Amino acid sequence: MSQKKHIPNHVAIIMDGNGRWAKSRNQLRVVGHKAGLKAVRKVVQHASLIGIKALTLYAFSSENWKRPEQEVSSLMSLFVYALNREAKTLHKNNIRLNIIGDISRFSSQLQAMIADVQSMTLNNTGLVLNIAANYGGRWDITHAIKKIIDKVNNNELLIDDLTEDVVGKELSLHELPAVDLVIRTGGEHRISNFLLWQIAYSEFYFTDILWPDFDLNSFDEAISIFNKRERRFGQVVDC
Ligand code: FPP
Repeated sequence: MSQKKHIPNHVAIIMDGNGRWAKSRNQLRVVGHKAGLKAVRKVVQHASLIGIKALTLYAFSSENWKRPEQEVSSLMSLFVYALNREAKTLHKNNIRLNIIGDISRFSSQLQAMIADVQSMTLNNTGLVLNIAANYGGRWDITHAIKKIIDKVNNNELLIDDLTEDVVGKELSLHELPAVDLVIRTGGEHRISNFLLWQIAYSEFYFTDILWPDFDLNSFDEAISIFNKRERRFGQVVDC
């Protein structure tokens, strides 16, 4: 008897390996990022089709500014290009786009485009696509702490009432189902300051596949493995 596949509600992906993919073809790193964008498109479409509720992609970390200026600027151009090109398709497919991270360092053009696409897709009821841009898990927690201190200073919150739930509500993605599955491509086995608080009980799937080669079969394979995991959330399961 075939087992029914359980689709995770929320999948988060560290898309690693664009540079190596390009290098193995004697191409510039930007060529790898462009190929990575094609993989993004396919994965988003598939996630939406199979009924994943939220997909969170690590597109640009707080640390990525340390890359050569030319690479940072081509990544920025790629984001502008992608937003321009994909906004209507996302909207047509009932996908809500949400950017998480500190976008204040981006150009005003990029910030305005982000605001436009977010507001255009705000009421869409299908997949929520979160793009982590200038995002870091530590930044997210620090930002939450600042908001909490503000509330305490304004007498909107008593320290004694500070609970994990209250902290969680100040963090990115709090309005979405918990992250069930984190996928990292490109062979490294680390979290690289991606979501920290939000992945306390997530399952992890690491693959050597380089991001531009991550296709629908790879995605389905990750979900199949996720399906075989027993999630106990710290509890004991009856034998
Ligand atoms: C990591 O590969 C990838 C990035 C830092 C950028 C991710 C960007 C994309 C997939 C394209 C655009 C995406 C959107 C959502 C518009 P790497 O450069 O670290 O690869 P390496 O480890 O092989 O050097």
